[in-house]
Amino acid sequence: LENGLAATPQMGWNSWNFFACDINEKVIKETADALISTGLAKLGYKYVNIDDCWSDLLRDSKGQLAPDSKTFPSGIKALADYVHSKGLKLGIYSDAGAFTCQVRPGSLFHEPDDAKLFASWGVDYLKYDNCFNLGIEPQKRYPPMRDALNATGRTIFYSLCEWGVDDPALWAGKVGNSWRTTDDIKDTWASMTTIADLNDKWASYAGPGGWNDPDMLEVGNGGMTYQEYRSHFSIWALVKAPLLIGCDVRNMTAETFEIISNEEVISVNQDPLGVQGRKVHEYGLNGCSQIWAGPLSGQRLAVVLWNRCSETTIITAKWASLGLESSTSVSIKDLWKHEYVSLNTVASFSARVDAHACEMYIFTPSTVTRSAS
Ligand code: GLA
Repeated sequence: LENGLAATPQMGWNSWNFFACDINEKVIKETADALISTGLAKLGYKYVNIDDCWSDLLRDSKGQLAPDSKTFPSGIKALADYVHSKGLKLGIYSDAGAFTCQVRPGSLFHEPDDAKLFASWGVDYLKYDNCFNLGIEPQKRYPPMRDALNATGRTIFYSLCEWGVDDPALWAGKVGNSWRTTDDIKDTWASMTTIADLNDKWASYAGPGGWNDPDMLEVGNGGMTYQEYRSHFSIWALVKAPLLIGCDVRNMTAETFEIISNEEVISVNQDPLGVQGRKVHEYGLNGCSQIWAGPLSGQRLAVVLWNRCSETTIITAKWASLGLESSTSVSIKDLWKHEYVSLNTVASFSARVDAHACEMYIFTPSTVTRSAS
């Protein structure tokens, strides 16, 4: 969507994966505070996004959406002011249907009113869900909110949450700044890997202005191991997914912080070229050894060697699978060890990768001889 936003994938935090409906204005404020005090905001995590359950069960007497008076007594405008005073941006949530997924009022057929209300509150981002959609196709339900947001005159990031229904990559580029490609992520290795594979199919449709969204990060929520979360974060960064933290940033472990604060991995995600990395090769029993890669600005490549199985293995990336001539000499920076692991390498590169782990690199060719494939 050409609204001047999403030149690179959105970064921030969203309440759903950790808090679900158990949210209130204190949690949102404390999260904003924590994004600042931990330094995450400086790394680019700017959006503080409230998910479902912020609103009252009914519209007010004027037919307007209203915040739950017990959990958000000061109102959303006050919260937006607070978040803005920290230099952050506030996101909110509604639904392109009669109700939200947690059965709060939806915005279908109320788009102009609700968009105006969000803009009057100073909202910067709308996540727009797909529950209770009355069987109307998403291509009909999502554009009216785009037009309503646009008509407010406030620039509002528009995140479609249509769960990959009706191949959104084919139509959503003109509608939203990002669109979900799959069902909801769960905090498990099986869910995360399945979603990574499903999202890969749509790689060519992503780019500045509009991104495939394989759903929010689960890093730090406890259902995966350190290595699995590192893989989750590395792959989400490589495939230009939104980097929306989904844990309680007020109470993160050092390991969680280490993963989500890796500046070199973040810079792959935020690279100005804006090309989604893909699975370029898999081999071995059950495709255990996988190479995911994508181009970066400055003729560089981001490369992930990902062990999808439960035995440590050596994974080899051959230049041919990366679109490089085998004679091309490459220097290789390891983005988790933060050091050059190889200089003037030709033809292939191998690394030992633990179970469910990945290694992530930037390849910088010294002679720029990319094969014309
Ligand atoms: C849907 C969305 C989730 C979350 C919940 C909230 O399942 O896909 O991301 O917003 O609704 O109810």
